[in-house]
Amino acid sequence: MDTGNTARGRFGSQLGVILASAGSAVGLGNIWRFPTEVGRGGGAAFILIYLGFIFLMAMPVMLSEFVIGRSARANAIGAFQKLSPGKPWILAGIMGVLGGFLVLSFYSVVAGWTLHYTVASAVGQLQGGADFSQAFTAFVSDPWQPIVYLAAFMLLTHLVVARGIRQGIERYSKLMMPMLLAIIVLLMVFSLMMPGAAEGVRFLLQPDLSKVTPEVILGAMGQAFFSLSVGIGCLVTYSSYFSQETRLVSSAMNVCIIDTMVAVLSGFIIFPTVFSVGLAPDAGPGLVFITLPNVFALTFDKMPLAGYLFSLLFYVLLLLAALTSSISMHEICTAFISEHFGKSRRQSAGIVTIICLLLGSFCSLSFGPWQDVTVFGRGFFDLFDFTVTKFLMPLGGLLMTLFVGWYLDRKLVEQQLTNDGCIHVRLMRPLLFLVRWVAPIGILVIFLNELFPLFL
Ligand code: PHE
Repeated sequence: MDTGNTARGRFGSQLGVILASAGSAVGLGNIWRFPTEVGRGGGAAFILIYLGFIFLMAMPVMLSEFVIGRSARANAIGAFQKLSPGKPWILAGIMGVLGGFLVLSFYSVVAGWTLHYTVASAVGQLQGGADFSQAFTAFVSDPWQPIVYLAAFMLLTHLVVARGIRQGIERYSKLMMPMLLAIIVLLMVFSLMMPGAAEGVRFLLQPDLSKVTPEVILGAMGQAFFSLSVGIGCLVTYSSYFSQETRLVSSAMNVCIIDTMVAVLSGFIIFPTVFSVGLAPDAGPGLVFITLPNVFALTFDKMPLAGYLFSLLFYVLLLLAALTSSISMHEICTAFISEHFGKSRRQSAGIVTIICLLLGSFCSLSFGPWQDVTVFGRGFFDLFDFTVTKFLMPLGGLLMTLFVGWYLDRKLVEQQLTNDGCIHVRLMRPLLFLVRWVAPIGILVIFLNELFPLFL
């Protein structure tokens, strides 16, 4: 079903579709959050559980979002209005747009830190002698500095989104994603060549089952959803710009594979280097901002140029990954404001940028002067992070799989998956089974498990 509304943007090529969607998926989640969780969750044991969640639960949600977006050709809220007028399903869209604002706000704070570390490593500030733990705490708790970097990062995101789908999102994804992939491979080779790297590789490949607690399993699901950007209408929005020829199933598979590869490769960059200088792998969120600068500094000592290049390339990588993801979060909100209120893309993007800059500043301040300001017992950063990853994403994913699996006309779903019968989807039945049963039941069980203890 094509509404023929070509005034809306469209991706110009299949490569653009995959790189933009993979750009959304590959982000801080892969390079910053994934290694942290792997470090805590017993290395390979966590990775195996994570893989199960990616392919059995997150991928079916992605496919559902693609079906909704391309058949409605509208923003996350508009799509539900079109496909189920007057029905409560719209709630999934509303949660999505709300989630878009929240996720962009807290994500940009960490992206701002990344920008700061990129600049610091470019000017050679991450050299030996410094206390990186103290430097990190001093930086993030400063009232102004992180907000300045947050604003700079937000501006970069804004400039891409304001240019539209083909000239902005597609063009820059095609530029940044190949750079990102090249840097990853380069860094991995580099890191595997470091003395003592084998221990890091062993840590990644040997499952330590004793670390697998129910919490680790819940964490793996949250990580899978966050990493694939599913559950908050981001991919509904992107797929509303797919052409009629875009193959939904193979695109979803490609994005899952690229995303997982980048996450695992990041592990192969981080752990061998961390082990090679004898630091602990479970340093938590400080891993890339405290442990790694330490690693770089130690390498600087022995091989100054290599250390400099490694650290600079690493933060550029993190920055590129953050940017292609933040663009997609911004687009959820911009598409909604532009279509719902009939505003131009530039105006809509401007409104989103201003709102998120404000909310992002709240998140940033929660590491410093507003440390004691809490809502429901959490600072703003934690509150937004919790609301999105533990609540909106699983609930949104649940609603979207139910919507596509049980509410939408089966014919329409099959038409979307087969491009009106033009392609044969071999795994149609198993895929629909995942969408109708496995994903919703799995999400529900885990979601309730996670929420119940909070209210007991
Ligand atoms: N998938 C992104 C990452 O791994 C984060 C993201 C979440 C992007 C939600 C868009 C929407 O960093």
